[in-house]
Amino acid sequence: MSPTPTSMSDPRVPASYSWEATDEEVARRYRLPVESIVRFDLNTSPAPPAAVARLLAAGRFETSLSEYPPSDYRRLAAAAARVYGVPAEEILVGAGADEILDLVAKAFLGEGDQALIPTPSYAMYRVLTEQRRAEVVAVPRLGPDGERALERAAVRAAARRAVVVWLCNPNNPTGRLEPDGLIKGLLDDLAADAAADGRDAPIVVLDEAYSEFVGRSLVGLRATYPRLIVVRTVSKAYALAGLRVGFAIARRETLARIEPYRPPGSVSTVSVSIATEILDDPDSLTDNLGRVAAERARLVDGLRTAGWHPEPSVTNFLLVPFDSAEAAARVAEALLREGLVPRTFPADHPLANSLRLTVRDQAQDDRLLAAAGSMETSR
Ligand SMILES: Cc1ncc(COP(=O)(O)O)c(C=O)c1O
Repeated sequence: MSPTPTSMSDPRVPASYSWEATDEEVARRYRLPVESIVRFDLNTSPAPPAAVARLLAAGRFETSLSEYPPSDYRRLAAAAARVYGVPAEEILVGAGADEILDLVAKAFLGEGDQALIPTPSYAMYRVLTEQRRAEVVAVPRLGPDGERALERAAVRAAARRAVVVWLCNPNNPTGRLEPDGLIKGLLDDLAADAAADGRDAPIVVLDEAYSEFVGRSLVGLRATYPRLIVVRTVSKAYALAGLRVGFAIARRETLARIEPYRPPGSVSTVSVSIATEILDDPDSLTDNLGRVAAERARLVDGLRTAGWHPEPSVTNFLLVPFDSAEAAARVAEALLREGLVPRTFPADHPLANSLRLTVRDQAQDDRLLAAAGSMETSR
């Protein structure tokens, strides 16, 4: 079940992103009805905003489905610009944050370049770096006692040759926000070192996929750090992962470096139309934020009662450590038997002793709580 690199046999093939088992695989393996499987591994919401059903039923999309979507996704970019408080020309639309991350890697990373990742973080940063035949410089985050924050001095020292620095705030899979001022301070350090060395500062990707959950964004820092690229998505807080809509927000000259790699029409007309409407409807967002916050508190309480120790989280997922990697694997297996799919980490991962669990709805989370309560191997 744990992610396995596909590059074992052929070193020229980079490791790919690895998913947990599909609903069908879990259903087959444990003889369960496929409809009973619940995904606790993907940090998604159990249902899209209510307005989506109405929009789909109306069937009126921005342009006819016989045509390609507008090449510049202009209405969607304008809606995103209003929501994020930036000019529309500083927005680039992509097929999810993942496509944006891919375009950034294509635009800025080449063979032998270095890209820095405070680890653990979102798995795609490593995958995309290695696909460009660039080198990952992994700088461990401070551990549980250090709030799993990135270590500013260590990142600064390791970034001296970095072309790209991948940051994620709040961070997946740790579910925490970096301490106040840390990222700004790091950007200042990186700019000062680059100036002293007489080179360009690294491109800093600041992945804010979960930022709505804390209502804070560092998008304003692009004014002082022109090589900052902020990444946003409608997949998480807006509960629209299936649409595949994400954004890069950066200064025009930086976006201009990425745009040549943009494929034509990667975001469907249906997705463009629905995302535009939902971004313009603040209630859709606030409803889900309120729901997630309340349900997260309930789930944390319930897991604690079951003897588990979820770490603090500002996001729609929880990181839950167990005594050992073997204990985490046993718990994962017991959950799968109930049709509940956790996110696991491979044996060589710093979080091998942990599971990541999405906050879902009450009924689904109650199944998780019942399973947790019935396990002896709680920690
Ligand atoms: C930190 C982070 N960035 C990006 C993504 C991908 O987002 P999208 O669905 O917009 O491609 C995820 C999805 O889990 C994520 O956790």
